[in-house]
Amino acid sequence: MKDIVPSPPPLVRNDVAAVQALFQQNVVPSYGRFEIVLSHGSGSYLYDITGRRYLDLGGGIAVSSLGHAHPAITEALVEQSRKVIHTSNFYYHEPQGRLAQALVNLIGPGKCFFCNSGVEANEGLFKLARKFGHDEGRFEIITTVNSFHGRTLAGIAATGQEKVKKGFDPMVPGFRQVPYNDLAAMRVALSPATAAILVEGIQGEGGVTPAAPDYLLGLRQLCNEKKLLLLMDSVQCGHFRSGRFQSFQRILEGVPGGESFLPDGISMAKSLGGGFPIGAFWVRAPYADLLGAGSHGTTYGGSPLACAVALRILDVIQREKLADNTRQVGGFLKTGLQQLADKYPTVIQTVRGLGLMLGMELAPNIPNLSGDSAKTPATRFVNLLHSAGLLAIPAGAQVIRFLPPLNLRQGEAEEGLKLIESVVARLAG
Ligand SMILES: Cc1ncc(COP(=O)(O)O)c(C=O)c1O
Repeated sequence: MKDIVPSPPPLVRNDVAAVQALFQQNVVPSYGRFEIVLSHGSGSYLYDITGRRYLDLGGGIAVSSLGHAHPAITEALVEQSRKVIHTSNFYYHEPQGRLAQALVNLIGPGKCFFCNSGVEANEGLFKLARKFGHDEGRFEIITTVNSFHGRTLAGIAATGQEKVKKGFDPMVPGFRQVPYNDLAAMRVALSPATAAILVEGIQGEGGVTPAAPDYLLGLRQLCNEKKLLLLMDSVQCGHFRSGRFQSFQRILEGVPGGESFLPDGISMAKSLGGGFPIGAFWVRAPYADLLGAGSHGTTYGGSPLACAVALRILDVIQREKLADNTRQVGGFLKTGLQQLADKYPTVIQTVRGLGLMLGMELAPNIPNLSGDSAKTPATRFVNLLHSAGLLAIPAGAQVIRFLPPLNLRQGEAEEGLKLIESVVARLAG
């Protein structure tokens, strides 16, 4: 039978240059992309269109919590899409209510709001803080140097890195940064206009730096004393990545007063949807009704499909005890990286992080580090890892981030360590 509508041109197969050309001609060049053209994935592996396999220790920047093509995610997508994909938030539906309940049970008494990304979850927290301080004329949110809170106008104003702000002046007012893990600096920075403090439990983009236990407890005390909201950006470090649901739960384990610690608001995204876009924020009980009807919203937020996927991921994490796996395999990977740092100090300076959120800081001036000198050492190092068959993510100029699936196997971590050593040994030699 003759086609009524002309067929689209055939898909480009195994042609890296042709796919890259499609991007060059048609996609806004706002990302510095690596050369690889990916095709598909399975578990902890991704494959490029030439058939080359990569061990994915980057996890799509801490997103692919169950790895690639996980059957439970496929099933949730198929089952829910057969019922209903989208309803809008004019109506109730069970998956959103059940997901909110699951998150409240994992964090503490409060309520949840659903959106579509990490920065949108942070925007919700910013609005919560403004509403909280509004009647007293307080609006300011203090954040930290080297933080990352997303790419919207308020997101870049909150972020403590000049590179994301450049060219987008004037900044949204009401955000100031002070050094991270420095309680005294935070105290000094507060003004009569301050309404909230926002920190990451583990700074991700800034180089994988966990908050010190005393810092978190001190921030809580400071916020109680000055009647401020303590907000935490858990977009990258949350969702069991540290080995507990929230990184502060892991950081404060065994610390006196730690088990009762709770911030007032938490933003989430990334691993929550395992690759299906969903963001959320949780707000502690006393403030849970601050954002009343008509004050905040988004068309897609908490759709039946997104919530069904997030619920299924939580179910798999619980059934397969992936929090324990994250601690064990993460501990194994961290020990292995530390051993490499001890063996090759001219290449690896330090190893940091918790669970499966690990950072490897490169030594300054690695002599044999090849590649375009206009690119950062971290980017050049990641290119070498790619050539060895491993994906990882640069963080800042000097740090390599490992944010693999939470179901990474020990054997895969071992394989990763071998691939990393093959690169490091060459640079040291
Ligand atoms: C800590 C943190 N907050 C916010 C964001 C922004 O999330 P999204 O890119 O989903 O908007 C990121 C993204 O990397 C992040 O790491």
